[in-house]
Amino acid sequence: MAKAKIFVARAVFPEIVEYLAQHFEVQSNQSDQVLNKDQLAQHLADKDGAFTTGSDRIDGELLAACPRLKICANMAVGFNNFDLDAMTARGVLATNTPDVLTETTADFGFALMMATARRMTESEHYLRAGKWTKWSYDMFAGSDVHGATLGILGMGRIGQGIARRGAHGFGMKVIYHNRSRLDAATEAECKAHYVSKEELLKTADHLVLVLPYSASSHHAIGAAEIGLMKPTATLVNIARGGIVDDAALAQALREGRIAAAGLDVFEGEPKVHPDLLTVPNVVLTPHIASASVPTRLAMARLAADNLVEFFSKGKALTPLNPQALAKH
Ligand code: GLV
Repeated sequence: MAKAKIFVARAVFPEIVEYLAQHFEVQSNQSDQVLNKDQLAQHLADKDGAFTTGSDRIDGELLAACPRLKICANMAVGFNNFDLDAMTARGVLATNTPDVLTETTADFGFALMMATARRMTESEHYLRAGKWTKWSYDMFAGSDVHGATLGILGMGRIGQGIARRGAHGFGMKVIYHNRSRLDAATEAECKAHYVSKEELLKTADHLVLVLPYSASSHHAIGAAEIGLMKPTATLVNIARGGIVDDAALAQALREGRIAAAGLDVFEGEPKVHPDLLTVPNVVLTPHIASASVPTRLAMARLAADNLVEFFSKGKALTPLNPQALAKH
């Protein structure tokens, strides 16, 4: 039987491309050219499967141009680059990479919160600029993390990982809000207390966003929500761009309405709102929360294994829309 044809949409570890090549006829974008919609559609027009990343948009228009496509394996846990309804309607299976990145991403969320609270990048810029000439009692004095109230919006696997770090490692009081409340055993394990979104905003000393992006979470944190936060509070977004209204956040940071923010994701990234680049009290990182070498390798391997499993056994390891299989 002829091998299935796969397109790897962005550069990935060479060993993963080699692994895929053992199973499939592989075309790979190892030069890492960022493909526009038409270029992606051209590459996928004669392919049976795609290895995608969060920057590759798969929607109804693209699928109409790619009639052979049966599976898109995303190397990300988030999948807002997929129009899942359109994929299901066309019988195209979608997969993501949950679990393998949970602890690494929680590490990063916690690190970003600490860097934000303790003003690490702001003070580093000051030092690098040669402005450090003497000790002073309040130089870059920030807020404490240990013993503070950690608020988590979105309490999935990564949110729970951050809660455990805060509660068990730093003696933080953990409060959270989520679409659905966790079961009592998980709440106890995370030492986390369920509160309304309003109470979360009003009470948290450090608020971390870990909710998935969807139309309903668009601008879940805007001027009104920031207005409820303590002026001493910090805000961290490791979830998705678009969950925070970046323009409103930049204005709030400039006006000192909250103390500081840490952002790993941005509306319209890799573009960053210009106002965020000029306010000092924000830590900015380029969407790297899952980027440890072992974890990125595990994510790539899981995405590849989803393709292998699908073409050899007709199912996938981590499907997002298993109902698409019924159409085959
Ligand atoms: C990263 O943002 C991911 O969704 O894996």
